[in-house]
Order: sequence, then C-alpha cells, then structure tokens
Amino acid sequence: MERRSETFYVTTPIYYLNGPPHFAHAYTSVAADAFARFNRIDGKTVHFLTGTDEHGQKVAQAARAAGEPPQEYCDRASAKFREMSGLVNLSNDDFIRTTDERHIRASRALWDAIAANGDIYREEFSGWYAVADEAFYDESELIGGKAPTGADVILLREENYFFRLSRWQDRLLEFYAANPDFIQPISRANEIKSFVRSGLRDLSISRTSVKWGIPVPGDQQHTIYVWLDALTNYLTGAGYPDTSSEIWRKFWPANLHIIGKDILRFHCIYWPAFLMSAGIEPPKCVYAHGWWTVEGAKMSKSANNFVPPAELVEKYGVDAVRYFMLRELPFGADGDLSCRALVTRVNAELANDLGNLAYRVLTIVARRCGGRLPKEANLSVDDRLLLTKATDMIELVRSHMHRYAPHRALEAIWAVVGACNQYISLQAPWTLDASQASRLGTVLYVAADALRHVGVALQPFVPATAAELLDQLAVPDTERTLEVLMNKKLGSDQPLPAPRVLFRKLDTDDPIDIRDSD
Ligand code: MSP
Repeated sequence: MERRSETFYVTTPIYYLNGPPHFAHAYTSVAADAFARFNRIDGKTVHFLTGTDEHGQKVAQAARAAGEPPQEYCDRASAKFREMSGLVNLSNDDFIRTTDERHIRASRALWDAIAANGDIYREEFSGWYAVADEAFYDESELIGGKAPTGADVILLREENYFFRLSRWQDRLLEFYAANPDFIQPISRANEIKSFVRSGLRDLSISRTSVKWGIPVPGDQQHTIYVWLDALTNYLTGAGYPDTSSEIWRKFWPANLHIIGKDILRFHCIYWPAFLMSAGIEPPKCVYAHGWWTVEGAKMSKSANNFVPPAELVEKYGVDAVRYFMLRELPFGADGDLSCRALVTRVNAELANDLGNLAYRVLTIVARRCGGRLPKEANLSVDDRLLLTKATDMIELVRSHMHRYAPHRALEAIWAVVGACNQYISLQAPWTLDASQASRLGTVLYVAADALRHVGVALQPFVPATAAELLDQLAVPDTERTLEVLMNKKLGSDQPLPAPRVLFRKLDTDDPIDIRDSD
C-alpha cells in the first residue's frame, strides 16, 4: 500500500443535466484536470473524478420538457458531458452518475450513518425553495421575493426529514480553525465563517413531492435531498461504503474539490457537517474559482450567452482553449470571455513565443547536426544561467500549483520561454560556422534542454502540445516527470524526428461572437 502522501484525489463538481455542457463547465473540469495531471508528473498516484448530477426537481423538469422518462433523458444528457470530458482532454480516472447503482448504495449508507448518530429527525417544513438552485432560503434572505441568486422561489410545505445542522455550528468553526487551508481562496473562507457564526438552522434533507431521487432508507415516501445525494458522489468515487477497500484507504479524504463560487455553502458547510456526523474525515481542501462573464453578465444557459465547448474546440483546438482558460483568468477571480482575447493570447504565446522558438532550434539541429541532438561542452555563463532558470522554474511551478495558481505556473514557464528566446537571439547559432561546431552544439543542446523543461512542465496545461514538443526532443514517455527532470540530463546524440510546426497560428479575422450563440 502506498503512503497517503503519495496519493492525490481531485474532483470536479458533478454537472446538472438540465442542459448541454457550456464553457464554464469545461473550465471547472480543465482546472481540476490541470491539478490531476500536475500531481501525476510530480510522482503522486492520482484519482480524478468527474460526472453528472442527475436527480432532483430541476433535472426532472428538464426531462418533462423534453418529453422523455427521466432515466432515458439522463442517459442522453450525461453522454454529452462524457463527450465534453473527451473533447477538452480530461484525464479523469472515473466518471460518476448519481443514477449509478454504486452511488445509490453509497447515498443510502451515508444517510444511515448520519441517522445512527442521531442527527436526523422528521418534522413539518414550511419555507422557500428555488428549483434553479435546488436550495432552500430563509425568508430573510429573499430579495424582492426572489432568491439572492435571482432564482424564483416557491413556498414549500411538506413533512421532511431534517439534518441537525445547528448542532454542528461550533464543530464547524473549530474545524475551520484547525484546518486553515480547507476553504480557498482565503476571502471565501471569511465569507463562510461569518455565515456559520451568524447561526445555522437545521436543514431539510428529504422531499415527498420530488419522486426523481433516491428513496430514503426505510421510508419510500421520501427521496433524499438532491444536494445530499450529489455531495455523496465524492465518497462513491472512493469506494464508499466499502471503507476496507484499497481505493478508500488510498484516496479518502479527498485532497481537492474544485468548485465554482456559487456552490460554496454546500461544500464548505453542509458537506463537512454531514461527514463529521457520519464519522468520516472531511476533504482537505475546497477551492472555489470565479465566474466567467460575457460583457459583465454571468455566463449561463438562462442568459443565453454561453458557448458550447465543442464549438470553441472545433474552431481553435483543444490546447488553445485550455491554455486560454488557465492563463487568462487568475484562478479564483472572475473574468470576461472574449474570443478575440483568446486568439491574441494564443497566437502571441503558444504560436510565436513557444512554437517559433522550438521550430527555430530544432530546424538548426536538423540542418546542421544531421538531425541528432548535439553534446554540450564548456558551458558559458549564459548557458548556465539559462539552464539554472529552467531548473528553478520547476520548483516555482510546484509552489504555484500547491497554492492553486495555475496562471502563475504558466507565467513561470513563460519566463523560461522568454529567456530561451533571448538566449537564442544573443547566441545567434546561425552565425556559427563549421569551425565553431562545438559551440554550436552547446548552444543547441542548452536551448533544447530548456525546451525539455518547458515541455515537461507544460503537460498539465496543454497536454497535446507538450507531448508533441517532448516527442520532437525524443524524450522517452517514462522520462516526462519532474523527478527525472531534476535528476537526469537530456540525452544527446539520439536522432530527433523531423521538426514540425508545434502550434499553428489561429485566424484573427473570424472570432466567434459569443453574444450570437445559443
Ligand atoms: N450539480 C451541482 C454541483 C454538485 S457538486 C456535488 C451544480 N451543477 S452545475 O452544472 O450548475 O454547475 C457546475 C459548476 O459549473 C459549478 O461549479 C458552477 O460554479 C460552475 N459554473 C456554472 N456557470 C459558471 C460560470 N459562468 N463561470 C464559472 N463557473 C460557473 O452546481
């Protein structure tokens, strides 16, 4: 059995099936994927889970509107999200559906564990419910008769099972204090703590009026509240309720739940309270990223301002889209999506800075060194400076990824790309003639090794482009890890494949206008 510190379990939110995937869903998934891939190249055994949230009123309504039985509707709608995972090149190890038998079992087991702790009771409920958010609101939270999110609310009166959330208020505050990294970024932690301090009410966790859900153990009249059902997916993905299984012992508690900021309360208050009640250790970290907006408005189906990821990927290519997502927006902040910004950034950074650099270096190797990577000899100060910068970059990338700052990690990688471009301009290998073959070899070797560092570090972000770069440098598949980078030199004298353009420039004249999309 591997030691706990050598494993990393990361999740995306599971997506509601009330519509097709949109850009922001792809964003959450790509961010989680970057963390999964980073931890793999950093030597961890990773478990990466994504999937779909299929029960509840919102999905039942969508099925009704489509004129389909809910299960058939979900099969079809879930397949679209599975397709999206492939489209944006997710490296997920599992794809969970809340209609999976294994998940139904896990949800009922979690319910039983919470009930066994005396935290569930039955009472008449009367209050406000927003189907769009699948959330209850206090009267005091309503703004102009609507939920704070702007969603319509309905007055609900039915007998429900309740979770004694109020009993967990102090324990939650103690938990946050003992685990300062649990809620990230820190601004979100403050928001959650003050909400908890202001007092927690017990939470309704079953419905009699919603049939499309998991029946409450021992009471077929009720279905489990969709958020309790949905959150449990993270346990199901780690083998729960089989807590003696290898997967459970290796991966629970999860290291990282990536979510959007609109679902913080569920993940940072309800989730740890449910888990503590059931005697299960809460996850290590919940990270809430910001919102993508289009001209200032949140991108959503209802605002009709979203782009299907397929359209973007088809037009610009998967790595262009991934690079833009991870580089453009400081992780955690909100930002505006503009295809013009995407094209400009990708052409400047991926095509020019990196693509041209690799092509320049590799074509000289092909022409002047018989297509074999030359050896280095007598390193100059400039050579050493570039190599040190490339090695130091690895530690920088690691620390930025540990601080959930993929945009900074990319910045650090681009600092090396920039330094390498400067190095090549300064060393001007094209001016070195046959009498300077040894110096020519050294310059090309040093540049190629800097590019190897860049290629390895780029794998979490633009996996296909990184793989192409490493293939062109003939770096074996088994040597594309941070550890190998720190301990093994780039092999010289091996034949390299004929250089290919790494990244084609995107067409600047014809960006997708997001406002025109449906
Ligand atoms: N089903 C719940 C999650 C359950 S997790 C146990 C849900 N689904 S969702 O499909 O509505 O949203 C999934 C994710 O997409 C959320 O993290 C949400 O924040 C994110 N986004 C949806 N629109 C968004 C933007 N415009 N910008 C960034 N992310 C946003 O919530």
